[in-house]
Order: sequence, then structure tokens, then C-alpha cells
Amino acid sequence: MSEKFSLSVNGSTHTVTADSDMPLLYALRDALGLNNLHFGCGLAQCGACTVHLDSQPIRSCVTPLSAVGNGKITTLAGLGTPDKPHPLQTAYIEEQVPQCGYCINGWLMTAAAFLRDNKKPTDKEIKDALSGLKCRCGTHMGILRAVKRAAAMMG
Ligand code: FES
Ligand code: FES
Repeated sequence: MSEKFSLSVNGSTHTVTADSDMPLLYALRDALGLNNLHFGCGLAQCGACTVHLDSQPIRSCVTPLSAVGNGKITTLAGLGTPDKPHPLQTAYIEEQVPQCGYCINGWLMTAAAFLRDNKKPTDKEIKDALSGLKCRCGTHMGILRAVKRAAAMMG
């Protein structure tokens, strides 16, 4: 049976009517049109669907609406804007990382949370933090360069 959910997304409140076990991913993409986040595996194994819930990265494909509560959701669209990009977004462009782009959301959202708490990470710390993510285009070395560049910009 459908219920009404009030979702705080990127600083705005939205009402979504859906089943309580509907994945947050579907609500954000299909009901709210936030298509930066992607469906990859649907099994919490690739990270393409990552958003922040109360500043922590979560896999929205396996997060039911009933688990969101009053949490504040941030998507890639809330991380930075074309006028004021997040350092990771700037670094991704400067390092020319993207190929097909399908995976970008997961790397940026996961790395943003990591860099917030780790100002001067080593290569190993970055690799460990991002180890649960997938890029089928093989951009991993570019991603590492971009995260290091962003860390330097933020430091
Ligand atoms: S689509 Fe959510 S982790 Fe792959
Ligand atoms: S850039 Fe294509 S999957 Fe990562």
C-alpha cells in the first residue's frame, strides 16, 4: 500500500507517494528526476546509486524509503554546481577522468565523504576508501589522480 514520504533532498523538501519498501534510488530518479545517480547492480555492489544520508554515503538501491526517516539526503546535484563545483568535480574535469560516465556518481559521492574526514590521505587510504566501487571503463588511475588533486585543493 502506498504511503506519503517527506524527503529532504539537497536542502528542499519533497513529498513522494510510494510503497515503503521502494528503494530510495527509484524515488530520487523517477519521482524527483534526479538522474545523476544511476542503477548499476541493484545489489549494493557497484556504488553507482550512492547518495549521502546525513552526510554518510549509502547505496540508495538497497535503502527502502521506510529507512530514510527525517534524514537529510544529498545527491551529486547538491554536492556542487557548475558555478561553484566541489573540488572533486573540478579535479575530475581537469584530470579528464570520465569515459562513459556511468560510474561517476558513486566515486564522487564516496570520495567527497572520505575527503571531508581525511584531509591528507595516502594513496592506500584512498584506494581502501573507494575499493567497493566499480568502473567498467577502467578509469581507476585517473580517479586516483583526481581524488589526490581534490585533496590538495581542499587542504
Ligand atoms: S546500483 Fe546500488 S550499488 Fe550498484
Ligand atoms: S567511466 Fe564508464 S563505467 Fe566508469
